[in-house]
Amino acid sequence: MNQANPLRDPRDRRLPRIAGPSGMVLFGVTGDLSRKKIMPAIYDLANRGLLPPGFSLTGFARRDWADQDFAQIVHDSVKAHARTEFREEVWRQLAEGFRFVPGDFDDDAAFDQLRRTIEELDQARGTGGNHAFYLAIPPGFFGNVVGQLKEHGLSTPRDGSWRRVVVEKPFGHDLESARELNQTLGEVFPAGSVFRIDHYLGKETVQNILALRFANEMFEPIWNNTYVDHVQITMAEDVGIGGRAGYYDGIGAARDVIQNHLLQLMCLVAMEEPVSFDADNVRIEKEKVLQSVQLPNRLDLTTARGQYAEGWAGGEKVGGFLDEEGIKKSSTTETYAAVTLNVATRRWAGVPFYLRTGKRLGRRVTEVALVFKRAPHLPFAAAAVEELTQNALVIRVQPDEGVTLRFGSKVPGTQMEIRDVNMDFVYGGSFTESSPEAYERLILDVLLGDPPLFPRHEEVELSWKILDPILAHWAKQDANGKGKPEPYPSGTWGPASADAMLARDGRTWRRP
Ligand code: BG6
Repeated sequence: MNQANPLRDPRDRRLPRIAGPSGMVLFGVTGDLSRKKIMPAIYDLANRGLLPPGFSLTGFARRDWADQDFAQIVHDSVKAHARTEFREEVWRQLAEGFRFVPGDFDDDAAFDQLRRTIEELDQARGTGGNHAFYLAIPPGFFGNVVGQLKEHGLSTPRDGSWRRVVVEKPFGHDLESARELNQTLGEVFPAGSVFRIDHYLGKETVQNILALRFANEMFEPIWNNTYVDHVQITMAEDVGIGGRAGYYDGIGAARDVIQNHLLQLMCLVAMEEPVSFDADNVRIEKEKVLQSVQLPNRLDLTTARGQYAEGWAGGEKVGGFLDEEGIKKSSTTETYAAVTLNVATRRWAGVPFYLRTGKRLGRRVTEVALVFKRAPHLPFAAAAVEELTQNALVIRVQPDEGVTLRFGSKVPGTQMEIRDVNMDFVYGGSFTESSPEAYERLILDVLLGDPPLFPRHEEVELSWKILDPILAHWAKQDANGKGKPEPYPSGTWGPASADAMLARDGRTWRRP
């Protein structure tokens, strides 16, 4: 089926690759993730011509639906959330490959029907026996579903075809549960067929960290503890938990975001140059970073957590976390978390990495800032450099994609006064293509079987090893009444304890 194009060099990665014959089975079709991210991304891929013509999407859910009802759900989701324009002809071709199988996760008859559906698609649409099972469902159900896939002969590919499983975080809630989860998946799918989504790795600006670091000469010499004072990784959201109380309560900001997205960002910033960008080589370097992380001794002074209280968001008065529907008044789930991590390597010893994330903060922004040391000597009058802070390189992940370099410059007209100025790279100013959604890239990579952007189980485990002691420390504080998440007004930049955490080190958070 896959005919090589003699005019194309397989090593040339400039053009996007197109997925071969394949289909996807989506579990959890009614969830937010499916409607807001997965379905629109599938449409966007089709619209960009990156899916095979016979691509098929099968929904599986406990709903009394026919194929058309499922198609309507996908249609609504695409209309509401797709990135690219709606084109009737693209939609029509895609929709011909929609199927729906009603059933429970423990309903044998439904999984039999799923198998027949897939076999029928292989015949009718030429999906070639290649199918990805996307588990957009709570991890508590992973075991049931993969068990059923095995039982009904769905997990084993015929010769020359593939079966893959796609899972979303949370990958457990601590090290032990992550191991159990992995075992559950591993009993059915070989490690190479398990694709764990950390959607931050699908973002263009995140992938660009590797380009910035390893395609250029000017950054590497200063990318170390001789020049870097500290690193701040911020993921701020202006939204609250929305309707996700069921998921979020008991999980909290650290498990939701630091365990995965922020530690992955840290890995990309801190890692050594990989031998190549093959999955194994990149992962080896990331794992070395995670293995080198050391927590400070005093977790009470080097971590902070908060809970949003009432305040303002987008010009509107909003309630606090404890007022959200489905959240108990006594909940100690944090909606803001900040941690200090040390990376014990020759390159990074003595350079703290400060990671923070929160909901209902001042605005939505994710960035990585390398803040440099001050010049060892400033041959200026004290007043001339009063306004000069530290040089910084800021990778602006979103929403304002780009890179900023902050340094000091003379204010024109003064005899000598030096202030911070910014030199900006803005994606929109340099590229005409807009960045695809992370899910477009990741779903395409699943269909292509291209693993570098998917965290391996070892990374997940190592991340939990970093977080578990912090979570245990907080749980202990909760239990002995010696601390709990500190309230912060919605629309501000988090609890005072987070500012105090940096102030102890003589530093301040950037105001992104
Ligand atoms: C998810 C978290 O992984 O990332 C959510 O579970 C969060 O709580 C979301 O809102 C944010 O993603 P993004 O791409 O908008 O930064």
